[in-house]
This record gives sequence, C-alpha cells and structure tokens, in this order.
Amino acid sequence: MEKYNIAIDGPAGAGKSTIARRVADALGFVYVDTGAMYRAVTWRVLQQGISPADTERVADISRNLRLELRPGPEGQQVYANGEDITGLIRTPEVNANVSDVAKIREVREQLVRKQKEMTAAKGVVMDGRDIGTHVIPDAEVKVFLTASPRVRAERRFHEMKDSQPGLTIEQLEQDIARRDKIDEEREVSPLMRAPDAVLIDSTNLTIPEVVERILELCRAKA
Ligand code: C5P
Repeated sequence: MEKYNIAIDGPAGAGKSTIARRVADALGFVYVDTGAMYRAVTWRVLQQGISPADTERVADISRNLRLELRPGPEGQQVYANGEDITGLIRTPEVNANVSDVAKIREVREQLVRKQKEMTAAKGVVMDGRDIGTHVIPDAEVKVFLTASPRVRAERRFHEMKDSQPGLTIEQLEQDIARRDKIDEEREVSPLMRAPDAVLIDSTNLTIPEVVERILELCRAKA
C-alpha cells in the first residue's frame, strides 16, 4: 500500500499520543511524538539550571542537544546525547516549563527542521500542536483532536496518579489550561486547527472509536 503522512494536533491531554500510536500500529507506520522533543529540550534546560526566559541560552541548548527518537516496547523512547531520558521528561517541572521553551522561535525552527526530515519518506503518524499547519502542511490526513478541559484533566490524572501520588485533578486542569493558553497565544506557529483538518471531539468517545474514525479517514482519503 502507498505510504502517506497523518498529522494529529490538539490541546494537552486530548489523547493524541495514545490514539496516534494505535493508528500507526494499525497501519504499520512510524509514530512520532513531537511533544517529547520539546520536553527533552526543556529537561536539559532545567538540568543546566537555565531559565526558559533566557532565550539565547535555551536556543544554544536546543542547537547542541543530540536528540534521537527510537521505537521501544512501551512506545517512543527519547535519547539526549545518547542517554535514555524517556522517564525524565514527564515530570511536573517539565510540564510547568515546556510551553515557555516551545514558544522560542529558534527552538521551534530547529525542532521543526528535524520533524520535517522524519516525514520526508512518508508513512508517519506525527502528533503535536503545529503538525498540520507547519510541519506537514501537505499531510494526506489531518486531524484536530480535542475534548472538554475536565475530561482531558481526568484522563491525565488516571495516567499519572500512580507515578505522582498527591496530584489532584484540579492541579492538572490548571496546568493544562495554562499550557493551552501559552500554546494558543504564542507568536510562532500557535496551536490551531488547520482549515483542512477534521475536528474530532473525543469527550464522549472511547479510544477505539477515535482510532476507527481516523482509520476511516485514511481509507477514504489516502
Ligand atoms: O504533547 P505534549 O503535551 O507532550 O507537549 C508538551 C508541550 O510541547 C506542549 O504543551 C507545547 O507547548 C509543546 N509542543 C509544541 N509543538 C508541538 C508539540 C508540543 O509547541 N508540535
């Protein structure tokens, strides 16, 4: 079957990564989680004690970080300068700072360049905030996946409650709302639905239902 690219964008906690991974598995495509790349840069910035407001030093970090994404048994694994940092990029500290790092123009330019390279051979399901609008504007299938803020916070809570005891749904709802606002209001490639992206509101849908809707779009369009 001919290969094509699928872009899945949407706000935090909409279920993009779970859905995108399942769609990729169903089609035998490669799954790329671009949020992990912004998280990896943020992790390194915090590890070096640099403030996300120091845009020049953050851009330097991003330029010099050797970032690799490799498929693993539990999904995509993230390596920075050869070190597996998959387990280190989803902490509250990274959550609190990632959107401020991701709004820096130079960081976006560097990561978007890498992302475009990854999609050149096609057969990629890529999720993020600007995939359908900037990274693969010619993707054959584009989806904008969303859900109500409360449901998104609840889903994140169930994912994180075992690894982070003490976390509340209210805290997650606030964190998600804050990140969405920065992502939507930033100057460089803000979070928005591409005009040709199909909107899927997953508030009342199960994961298999959303996956099936996207596979239907693939069958119809590709
Ligand atoms: O998808 P995830 O929630 O892991 O993304 C973390 C953050 O990375 C987002 O809140 C956003 O600030 C940034 N991001 C982005 N563009 C992308 C993917 C993620 O700005 N394509």
